[in-house]
Amino acid sequence: MNFWCHGHRNCSLLSWLASLLGWSLPIVSEMVSNWYCSFGKCCATGDCRVTNNITGLDLDLSRRLHGQHLVKHVVLKAVQGFLETPEPEKALTLSFHGWTGTGKNFVARMIAEHLYQDGLKSDCVKVFISLFHFPHSKYVDIYKVQLAKEISETVQLCEQSLFIFDEAEKLHAGLLDAIKPYVDHYDSINMVNYRRSIFLFLSNTGANIINEVALDFWRAGRDREEITMEFLEPYLRTELMEATDKDYTHNGLLKDNLIDFLVPFLPLEYRHVKLCARDAFLVRGLPFTEEALDEVARMMVFVPKEEKLFSAQGCKSVSQRINYFIP
Ligand SMILES: *[C@@H]1O[C@H](CO)[C@@H](O)[C@H](O)[C@H]1NC(C)=O
Repeated sequence: MNFWCHGHRNCSLLSWLASLLGWSLPIVSEMVSNWYCSFGKCCATGDCRVTNNITGLDLDLSRRLHGQHLVKHVVLKAVQGFLETPEPEKALTLSFHGWTGTGKNFVARMIAEHLYQDGLKSDCVKVFISLFHFPHSKYVDIYKVQLAKEISETVQLCEQSLFIFDEAEKLHAGLLDAIKPYVDHYDSINMVNYRRSIFLFLSNTGANIINEVALDFWRAGRDREEITMEFLEPYLRTELMEATDKDYTHNGLLKDNLIDFLVPFLPLEYRHVKLCARDAFLVRGLPFTEEALDEVARMMVFVPKEEKLFSAQGCKSVSQRINYFIP
């Protein structure tokens, strides 16, 4: 149900209008709210679908994202800075890198939830999964047209849109070319302003170098929180620039300086997995013991062989694993 007709005093008016035109109520209320919002009268942000709750994002990142001090810092700084800029020069582009299960999808979802009323379900948010949405390289020309159309239609509906590209390392170079104009420094393309939108690219590329740095710190007896962006970023950047699989990496954007922030996700340790397990119990309102958390964490595989330091799957499927402990 549209927010507009949620116990709103105009509900009966909308229903009357809908019956008069013979259209369904949701369609009419959507049209009216689009029209209303187009005058910027709707909410503080000018669009009721957009909430931009930075406080909420900050809190959520602090409470539910474990072991990722760099991610928290970079994402908040980037998103907040961008939203507070009256006339951004270009769309915001963030490139997430790290092992599976370290929280890339999790953080993308958090951003969607705190920036948009309906989170990932918002009509301002589009998620593309490379092998799901663009599986066959022979159809790349068709995909290119579809993707450009979808980006353009979404931004026309919602000036501040969010586009999430999952498995970005498998995105075909041709599709990258289709995205490029929208993340570049153009004033507008066919009268549409794309510079208020946010693009997230999620990939596993670069995970090895991130993990190596984390392991080196551990071996040197140093805290992982001592890893700084200044230290890690040059290694990550070099690794990404040299990534070989030319057709299928998104380093074209990096080479053209179109990526604004690299966001490294560190590999997770035993204690982080326990925190994920705790969250999973809490979310479902289930009681738990310290032993149960240890048992969940022990089910994961830890690498490298000697140190057994990092969870090979991060916190992936931890929430399913707690099912074993439910009486
Ligand atoms: C922002 O999020 C916080 C935490 O989730 C919440 O308490 C607060 O009410 C939200 N603010 C707005 C304006 O929605």
